[in-house]
Amino acid sequence: MTLPSFPGPVDRPRRLRRSAAMRSLVREHTLRPADLVLPMFVREGARENRPVSSMPGVEQHTMDSLVRAATEATERGVGGVMLFGVPEHKDATGSGATDEDGILNRALARLRAELGDATVIMADLCLDEFTDHGHCGVLDDAGHVDNDATLQRYREMALAQAEAGAHLLGPSGMMDGQIAAIRDALDAADRTDVALYAYTAKYASAFYGPFREAVDSSLSGDRRGYQQDPANGREALRELELDVAEGADLVMVKPGLPYLDVLKDVAAASPVPVGAYQVSGEYAMIEAASANGWVDRDRTILESLLAFRRAGASTVLTYYASEVAGWFRDGL
Ligand code: PBG
Repeated sequence: MTLPSFPGPVDRPRRLRRSAAMRSLVREHTLRPADLVLPMFVREGARENRPVSSMPGVEQHTMDSLVRAATEATERGVGGVMLFGVPEHKDATGSGATDEDGILNRALARLRAELGDATVIMADLCLDEFTDHGHCGVLDDAGHVDNDATLQRYREMALAQAEAGAHLLGPSGMMDGQIAAIRDALDAADRTDVALYAYTAKYASAFYGPFREAVDSSLSGDRRGYQQDPANGREALRELELDVAEGADLVMVKPGLPYLDVLKDVAAASPVPVGAYQVSGEYAMIEAASANGWVDRDRTILESLLAFRRAGASTVLTYYASEVAGWFRDGL
């Protein structure tokens, strides 16, 4: 038998994909340099930059190269920089974190002096880079992370970072009540101007692997006792409610691409702006695959960043921030 020909579909979505102009006309989501935040590492006592081997293109900066790179990123219009410190000495309570001469606080002060309010200067507020055991808080006698004793250290750290000139603090330790404790300390010190970027849904993730090298982490074991279980979605909404009630100005979901569902749920429920963190392992995967010629590097980067915007993120923390912002200047 002769097969009668199909009369053709009635609906033809491809009409809107025919030309670059048509695609541009109907594009729902965009990416701007100001949407991107650059995480940066600064190393105490460093004479020269040290490459992070698991994150090609990312370095532990000296103070001077930090200033140069942050200035360049600011000139390219990035929304902010998020600073992590790599101290020379570590101890049980992470005293380098609250020392005004500690590497992170010195670097914040230097950036604020150089950049003023030209970009948003953000500080990682967590003890893990500063503790000899590598955990995000102080330990009790049994070796567990002591939530409430840690909060006291975070309060001190927040004041040191505010004093150094950070505009925005990013508490990343996942202690219960950390936003309330820190907000209270800032308010009591009349630092109502300093904003809080809550790591609301932060999962105990294997995707942080390369970051451990980037900060010379001394952690053995894992953070499952305080970071969220990757199997859980609902918990993120509870953390969101708490963080907003405690005074978070922005909230974040981390890691990024493996948690787009969580990002979308949080974005739908959040009364405050939502960010996503494309973490070290996500960066490393793109780098490794593109180094092998397996994916087109630039397109993969842009597609991954756009995915965060589509899922509802206003801000994306990414190690690609400065590079991608530079592409905008040169024409995407
Ligand atoms: C903890 C912190 C981590 C990251 C950011 N802040 C590591 C962890 O929680 O183990 C990971 C960032 C990344 O992987 O890019 N201060």
